[in-house]
Amino acid sequence: MHDQMARIQSHIESHQHMAGALMPLLHAIQDDLSYIPEECYGLIAKALNLSVAEVHGVVTFYHHFRTRPPGRHVLQVCRAESCQAMGCGALESHVKSSLGIDYHETTSDGSITLEPVYCLGNCACSPAIMLDDEIYGRVSPQQVESLLASARRDNP
Ligand code: FES
Repeated sequence: MHDQMARIQSHIESHQHMAGALMPLLHAIQDDLSYIPEECYGLIAKALNLSVAEVHGVVTFYHHFRTRPPGRHVLQVCRAESCQAMGCGALESHVKSSLGIDYHETTSDGSITLEPVYCLGNCACSPAIMLDDEIYGRVSPQQVESLLASARRDNP
């Protein structure tokens, strides 16, 4: 945690004099640490002259920001319009019951975190998912199942 706070402090220092620093700073912290630890809200608030409640409000408002460390792999299921029309509801029910978790949760073995996303820019190939940095289109429940199985095998 000491090392994390030092990294956060350096992001704060490089952002704090920018106009509208909060969003770019939060993105920089999450890009670096994969989440935004609650312990840093006070530091951010002080540096940007905001209240801790304001920082907390922004972090929790945007689905993109995580407040806890993710699992070793992150599966994002697109829930935006085109994917909805092409059956992402059935896909997400399947994934949730197969993993035994809801959105924003991580499997008990720490391997997969499940997140909703609102358009991956792959609407022509709906329904779409993203596993780590890879986007997949026209995904069936069986395909997602086999992608998850191989992700878990890669990193037991
Ligand atoms: S609506 Fe799902 S990729 Fe655009």
